[in-house]
Formats: sequence, structure tokens, C-alpha cells
Amino acid sequence: MEGHKTAIVPTMGALHRGHLALVAEAFRLAPRVVTSIFVNPRQFGRSEDLGRYPRNEAADREVLAQAGVNLIFAPTSSLMYPPEFATTVSLAGPAKAGLEDKFRPDFFTGVATVVAKLLIAAECNFAMFGEKDYQQLKVVTQLVRDLNMATEIAPVPTVREADGLAMSSRNAYLTASQRKKAPELSIALFEAAKAARLGVNLDRAAATARRKLEGYGFRVDYVVARNAATLAKVKSATEPIRFLAAVRLGRTRLIDNVPV
Ligand code: PAF
Repeated sequence: MEGHKTAIVPTMGALHRGHLALVAEAFRLAPRVVTSIFVNPRQFGRSEDLGRYPRNEAADREVLAQAGVNLIFAPTSSLMYPPEFATTVSLAGPAKAGLEDKFRPDFFTGVATVVAKLLIAAECNFAMFGEKDYQQLKVVTQLVRDLNMATEIAPVPTVREADGLAMSSRNAYLTASQRKKAPELSIALFEAAKAARLGVNLDRAAATARRKLEGYGFRVDYVVARNAATLAKVKSATEPIRFLAAVRLGRTRLIDNVPV
């Protein structure tokens, strides 16, 4: 029954307007919304930022209360992963597209395992995921389909700052001068998408974006055009296409993607 529908917004806290867009969209789909706050240690590599990941649970709780969220689930690590914990989800398909998985080999196993736990526990009708983490969105969509989970994954468009930078909790790491440069990532991707629409070869458009970003001092992990549905390499001009990129500015890694 419509009135009994529920939606979950899984988060790692350090909430920003992007998360609030997920909550707003959740309320559009269901009258009752639960938000989880859990910095999932299993999705961080050894050399990644688990220790310094921004945490501000008190402020997050206030923001969520103001947004009208009905329930906050903020488990401890030992509740999620007791000492005898022994199961992970094994992935293929979009999780092996050679994008984030190439640079963060354990990331999607950690994400899929925690998302499976959260969705099974919450038994919600909908789970909200932002398009900013596009490969993650595809991985969890495949996860619920393959494991016959009853929750529908609901994608939510990326929320951007006024200068185009995609909102992310990790933007807080940027120094003032890095923050000034950071919007060049979305600018390069939007330009690549525009060039592709005008008929420029996809690899050439991606190579131009890479060159520009390197010129600005970004270290580029990847800039590619992929099939927007499967993340496979593009074979024909009629496929839905998305440009995806990951770059580093100092110690901060930024990802973004835009549709063609
Ligand atoms: O996108 C995130 O914030 C996390 O990867 C998620 C989905 C909450 C799982 O820990």
C-alpha cells in the first residue's frame, strides 16, 4: 500500500546538499524514510582515507531531523562486522568495468557487502543512490537484481555547486587553491559530452579532456566514454553514452560523470 512505502538513503555521513536531494527524492517515493550513517571500513583500501574521512554525526542528525527523516540507523563497526563475520559479495559485470575497480580494487566488494546488509535489514521499497558515484549506482542495481532483493534502486541526479563541482563529502579536503581548480573536472566532462554530441570521436573527446585536466595540474586516473547502461566500451553511435572521470588534486581524489 502506498501509505506504507519506505525508502532508505544509505550514507557515510558528512552530509551535504547532495545527500539532502537523496532524502527529498526518497520522500517523493515513500512517506517514510530511513537514513543510515556508517563509514564502512570495508570499502576503504589500506592507503585510503578511512582515518581522516569527515565525521560529524551530531550535525548530520540535526540536518536529517530537519529534513523530516523518520529513522536514523548509525551502527557501530562491531555491530555491522562482528568478529565472526565471514561473508562478502562477489561481483562481476559493472563492478569490473576497469574504472573505479582498477584504482580501488576492494571498494565495490565493501560497498556491495554493506549495501546488501543494509537493504536486507531495512526491508525498504526503495534505496536512493546518487548518479555522482555512477559505477556504484550500476553495481548496486546489478546486486539487487541478481540477488532478488525486493528493494528498488532509485537513481538521483548529481547535485553541483554553483561553479559545477559535483558535491562530495571529500570536497572538504580541498585547499582553497585546489577548490578553485576543482570545477575544471566537470567543465572538461561537459565539454567532452558536447563535442561528442557534435560528432567528435569519443576517444578524441576523452583525450582532449585528459590533456586539459593534466594541464591544470590534475593527475588523471581515467577519462573515458562508456555505455551508460552497462559501463562497457562503446561499440556503436546509437548507444546511451556517459563520460566518466577520476582525478587527483594533491591527496584528494575526485570523480564525476556526465551524460552525452
Ligand atoms: O556512497 C556512499 O556514501 C557509500 O558508498 C555507501 C553507499 C553509503 C555504502 O557505504
